[in-house]
Amino acid sequence: MQRLTDRKILLGITGGIAAYKCAELARQLRGAGAEVRVVMTPAATEFITPLTLQALSGNPVHLHMLDAEAEAGMGHIELARWADLILVAPATADFMARLTAGQADDLLSTLCLASDAPVCLAPAMNQAMWRNAATQHNAEMLQQRNITLFGPGIGEQACGDIGPGRMLEPVEIAQLTAEQFGNAVLAGKTVFITAGPTREAIDPVRYISNHSSGKMGYALAQAAVEAGATVKLISGPVNLPAPAGLERVMVSSAEQMLVASLDGIERCDIFIASAAVADFRAADIAEHKMKKGKADEMVLRLVKNPDIVATVANHPQRPFTVGFAAETRDVVAYARDKLSRKRLDLIIANDVSRSDIGFNSDQNAVTVVSADAQQVLPETPKRQLGGQLIAMIAQQYHA
Ligand code: C5P
Repeated sequence: MQRLTDRKILLGITGGIAAYKCAELARQLRGAGAEVRVVMTPAATEFITPLTLQALSGNPVHLHMLDAEAEAGMGHIELARWADLILVAPATADFMARLTAGQADDLLSTLCLASDAPVCLAPAMNQAMWRNAATQHNAEMLQQRNITLFGPGIGEQACGDIGPGRMLEPVEIAQLTAEQFGNAVLAGKTVFITAGPTREAIDPVRYISNHSSGKMGYALAQAAVEAGATVKLISGPVNLPAPAGLERVMVSSAEQMLVASLDGIERCDIFIASAAVADFRAADIAEHKMKKGKADEMVLRLVKNPDIVATVANHPQRPFTVGFAAETRDVVAYARDKLSRKRLDLIIANDVSRSDIGFNSDQNAVTVVSADAQQVLPETPKRQLGGQLIAMIAQQYHA
């Protein structure tokens, strides 16, 4: 269930007897690495206490729409935006009916309306209520709106009946929730990713570098973890926390990045070079801080850095190798030239002449170029683009 790592799950609990199982569900979700915030309807609090859910989720439980104190903390719109996924378990017949009608008469139904996140329901009710034409109609309407239903299961019910309407077990619900975050297309594979800028020292206090933020490489690394890969993220100096579930190796110069990239390369299946590596470094690094002196000019002699991605692509045990091409014009043509020159399998080209995407931005738009094809991925947040690119890389790798 690695795919739940760092996922923000809003767990909605409505008033059914199965609500008692949500304590275990909250524990399962958190155990799989998810961050959990719980919203309870008033009826749910009749079956299980908010205090139990607060202790198990590690966050205060949200109960009311018009609670000034709660709104001052994380307001309902903020909560709706926070969620990566809304999971309502148990979802009663009444809640399903209100959701179908688009009502917003309590906090949970309001959040479902106000959020862009996917919504999943684990229905739980008496078998006759589940079979009722009204509930069946609502279930169908909700699914048409891309709301996912987990179950219900068939079996013995709290009321003594036997039939459909049992809530699935917490472990099954947690598993189905994890599956909402894509398939484990890279399970068992090892992926190395370079990210961020390099710093080439001139003297003890100065260096040559560039504006790369590392956001694209970190998004790719996170997506590769979510796709089930074992990931080594080789990062230049950036201001980003290490995504959970991977090994991060911090480096500074291109030469250090090369050493870290080649370390264990024989077990690497896919190498993705997203780092903005400095092409040149100072021929000599001054031992002490360089002084201005009297001259109006100074000459810095530079020597070429090793090409990391080309070195990897030409290694005797070369992995499937993916590069990036940041260009300001003729983007695809230059990218294709780079693809063949460096012997890459794929190259991801982006136009860095635009200030709204690429370097330092949260958005990017790219063209994925192979020897015989190209595909445009339009402007998307880098986090989302990371997932799309990993899916495309995995597909090409397996092909
Ligand atoms: O040659 P250019 O710098 O435009 O190529 C960009 C691609 O090559 C990127 O994938 C970058 O990470 C990689 N690269 C590298 N080592 C270098 C220069 C670029 O791995 N010294």
